[in-house]
Amino acid sequence: MDWRYNLPMPHRSNRVPVDLSLNRLATARKRIGAIPFDLTISNPTACGIAYPAELLAGLADPRGLDYDPDPRGPMTARKAVAAEYEQCGVSPDPRHIMLTASTSEAYGFLFRLFCSPGEAVLVPSPSYPLFEHLASLDGIDAPTYDLDGDSGWHIDFSSLESCSADVRAVVVVHPNNPTGSFVPPDDRRQLVGLCRKRDWALIADEVFLPFPLDGGPGEGSSFATEEDRLCCTLGGLSKNLGLPQLKLAWIVMTGPEEIVEAALEGLDYVADAYLGVSTPVALALPQLLADGAPIREAIRKRCRSNLESLRSLVSEYPAVSLGPVGGGWNAVLRVPSVLSEEELCLQLLERRGVAVHPGHFFGFQSKGWLVISLLPPTDQFTEGVRLLLDGVGQTLTPPHSGSGGA
Ligand SMILES: Cc1ncc(COP(=O)(O)O)c(C=O)c1O
Repeated sequence: MDWRYNLPMPHRSNRVPVDLSLNRLATARKRIGAIPFDLTISNPTACGIAYPAELLAGLADPRGLDYDPDPRGPMTARKAVAAEYEQCGVSPDPRHIMLTASTSEAYGFLFRLFCSPGEAVLVPSPSYPLFEHLASLDGIDAPTYDLDGDSGWHIDFSSLESCSADVRAVVVVHPNNPTGSFVPPDDRRQLVGLCRKRDWALIADEVFLPFPLDGGPGEGSSFATEEDRLCCTLGGLSKNLGLPQLKLAWIVMTGPEEIVEAALEGLDYVADAYLGVSTPVALALPQLLADGAPIREAIRKRCRSNLESLRSLVSEYPAVSLGPVGGGWNAVLRVPSVLSEEELCLQLLERRGVAVHPGHFFGFQSKGWLVISLLPPTDQFTEGVRLLLDGVGQTLTPPHSGSGGA
């Protein structure tokens, strides 16, 4: 019998997980309430970053009182997005840019454009945990391909090539969240070749491209230069401007002209059903992007300074390691796997007031990974990392035996 008929009405589709209860970590967080050292924070507006007071003045533009819907968004806004790519040496055609309300919405549009129900989009692992959910909400599969930690997170092409699903597109995250790794030029060449051979579209998520840290091969180079294969490059204000609440992102389509036109025609059809972009935000976009440099700089400065403290603190703990962090807002720590990641994170939370993400949350396959946000205010970050490292150190110390004659 179909499981849905066992549920009380109204029943839920299998796009929504059957079990929506909180996991152990989320339950503990809820019970504790305010967390003194939250190293999972991903909301830049909650980290003491200074935003210029006049930044949102453009939202009051009276032109926002007229509604003239275009599924791709106003042309003035698309030209401003195209100009952003000049710093990467690319001049995308503004007619080939589509605005969306978020990168998540952009993924949804592209999944519906490329895949019929049951078909698949390949996604990297470890990476952004939302892919699985976005795919399932669109009734498609999201099998993973591996990024190899031992080789500095290069693409494991054998895992890509051996995928037996009915793949229509492949996602790259450049730089990847949370490993911070850029897609190096060799991997990119090989990937584009494979996409051509298998007739896969390419979706390149570059929301963290403006935030290089240690850098590395591939840094600063955008997939929006890709002309050989249909490529959809994603960016958006939630990271570019550190303002997720503005709800504006974009897709830049590049590739062979005829294929791009056909893809955009389909994408117009999808976007026209939603028209999710707010006119005032789209009209304000040119000014918002022009005014965004100090915010990006403040976020970069925060992440760099926290990364430096992290590196210095980790150097005192030989059992813990931190690799290069190419770019983005997170760092990953390799810790001894004496306890399960979940148990370690629970202990850190309950005994030391430090919240940190377990690696398995991002799809790390081996044990002993922790993901740390580089966004928190510096004092809070440094003390949180100290407590975390001390907590990890304690798990390595054998418990005293025989004292006190219990
Ligand atoms: C790789 C990646 N892409 C996209 C997003 C979300 O972007 P948006 O807020 O535009 O949906 C995130 C959020 O953390 C992310 O890590």
